[in-house]
Amino acid sequence: MVDLQSQYQKIKDDVDAAILNVLDSAAFVNGPEVKQFETELQEYLNVKHVIPCGNGTDALQIALMALGLEPGDEVITADFTFAATVEVIDLLKLSSILVDVDYDTFTVDTDKLKAAITPKTKAIIPVHLFGQCSNMDEIMAIAKEHNLYVIEDTAQAIGADYKGKKAGTIGDIGCTSFFPSKNLGCYGDGGAIFTNDDDIAHRLRGIVNHGMYKRYYHDEVGVNSRLDSVQAAVLRRKLPLLNDYNAARNAAAAAYTEAFEDIDELLTPVKGDDTTHVFHQYTLRVTNGKRNELQAFLTGKDIPAMIYYPVPLRKQKAYDNGHYNDADFPNTNKLVEEVMSLPMHTELDDEQLTYITSAVREFFGK
Ligand SMILES: Cc1ncc(COP(=O)(O)O)c(C=O)c1O
Repeated sequence: MVDLQSQYQKIKDDVDAAILNVLDSAAFVNGPEVKQFETELQEYLNVKHVIPCGNGTDALQIALMALGLEPGDEVITADFTFAATVEVIDLLKLSSILVDVDYDTFTVDTDKLKAAITPKTKAIIPVHLFGQCSNMDEIMAIAKEHNLYVIEDTAQAIGADYKGKKAGTIGDIGCTSFFPSKNLGCYGDGGAIFTNDDDIAHRLRGIVNHGMYKRYYHDEVGVNSRLDSVQAAVLRRKLPLLNDYNAARNAAAAAYTEAFEDIDELLTPVKGDDTTHVFHQYTLRVTNGKRNELQAFLTGKDIPAMIYYPVPLRKQKAYDNGHYNDADFPNTNKLVEEVMSLPMHTELDDEQLTYITSAVREFFGK
């Protein structure tokens, strides 16, 4: 699905030198590379504060911890996404409320979101799934009306723009992951939290560091979540390439979409009105009920094709609280049966794209 080796080969000299420099300096944790990456990411995102942390899941957990929520407070998020988002809500003994997504964009259905609000609702976590922003204008309006926090899960959409603002900088807090396969990936685990709010930033910086605001004075229960210097060094070399990386993903996506235009049984990705797309995934909907056969056909030709995601979160054993009504989730229910993601990365060349698209076309008799 990704080709991290070829990508690394193109930047190897620069990255190797940067990593060796960290080894020479022995500043493995909280070193200058981390501080510099923080500043450079702030500039790239045009956001006041970036707080690096250990991974994207920690970022979401720490964001929720910083908002002073009480056990039982409700946090609304999408039913169709990776589990990290709901996991941290439940881990903190908050109450996760899952709602359906839009069939075309895979992002949270804002009508369903509105309908799910109760007096206990305190926050919304829109997930910018597969690389495009959720409908942030609507979400921010709903949040304002009901006095709710908004935490953007930007793990899959770093670099995407929503009406000229970077994904993750519109809500109260943005969270991202630097997992190696992400659009901006390091060579291990990594994550970051963004905010324009000085008070929230202060709180986040304390929580990532054992709840310490002054050394060895622990004002609250925190966690230990750090981006290490080696990862920061890698990310500093890759951040200047992020726009090019995202452009390469867009070019591959355009080639896929063009090749599938005449296949009625395939729905190609639909971009929301006000957002750009950074194609963390290129996700098709196979509407003739033959998704699994297509996947097997492609696998037979050594083409990886993945199902992100095969089970709605509300039906996962860990999150099935028995309170959800299937009829409220027509889109998620359909998507888990129809979606299939094709290989998507920065190094896809014309030959690979032709091989993949020809195989898909062959399956549909084209
Ligand atoms: C939407 C979403 N949120 C959160 C995460 C968690 O990030 P990490 O794997 O860095 O903990 C991921 C990563 O896969 C993700 O895709």
